[in-house]
Amino acid sequence: MHFKVVLPVLAALPSIFAQTTTPPTYKLRADLKPGQPGRPDKTAYDGLYLSSYHTGAGLNDAVFYSKDPADGIVGSLNGTFPWSMLMALNTATYAAWEPVRIDAGEGGISARGWGNGFFINDTGLQWSSSTSEETNSFAGWMVCDWHSEVQLFFRLKYYNPTTPASCADVYLCPEYQ
Ligand SMILES: *[C@@H]1O[C@H](CO)[C@@H](O)[C@H](O)[C@H]1NC(C)=O
Ligand SMILES: *[C@@H]1O[C@H](CO)[C@@H](O)[C@H](O)[C@H]1NC(C)=O
Repeated sequence: MHFKVVLPVLAALPSIFAQTTTPPTYKLRADLKPGQPGRPDKTAYDGLYLSSYHTGAGLNDAVFYSKDPADGIVGSLNGTFPWSMLMALNTATYAAWEPVRIDAGEGGISARGWGNGFFINDTGLQWSSSTSEETNSFAGWMVCDWHSEVQLFFRLKYYNPTTPASCADVYLCPEYQ
């Protein structure tokens, strides 16, 4: 009787190996974290897909303008992907939170930001830095109405966790393609 169970398992193995050579791709959806009651109402931020806004050759801001998955950009944790998210530490906009950029290329560390250290767990995309000045300082994602568009920021630890009125705390949840 057990033979009937064993065969389908063996048949499934090739697709498991295929996944290890082709890492999964996904779109990132902003899910409002619980505990952010109205005034102002933040539900407009819930369910938006991460897109990019062109700011220069190969340079983009990480923005949100649509709840249609078709408008989301495709990502992967694979280091050879054609674009990368960069955590723009040191922009000196606000010490407690900093913007995220989406540039052409393979990430790494440059004046535009830190492109290493991303991983995904049960609460979505995470970042774990180990730079000389900001070791494991990630304290979550925040989306804000910023210069008339909704942009992605990240919080840094050690600061007061007050959320500005025009911002919402979100998870970035992968929707695998
Ligand atoms: C990324 O994907 C390419 C092609 O699918 C593969 O050759 C490479 O090993 C992958 N790199 C990582 C870091 O997963
Ligand atoms: C995911 O990782 C973050 C950052 O390390 C951590 O704070 C969070 O608790 C993790 N979530 C789960 C569900 O493990």
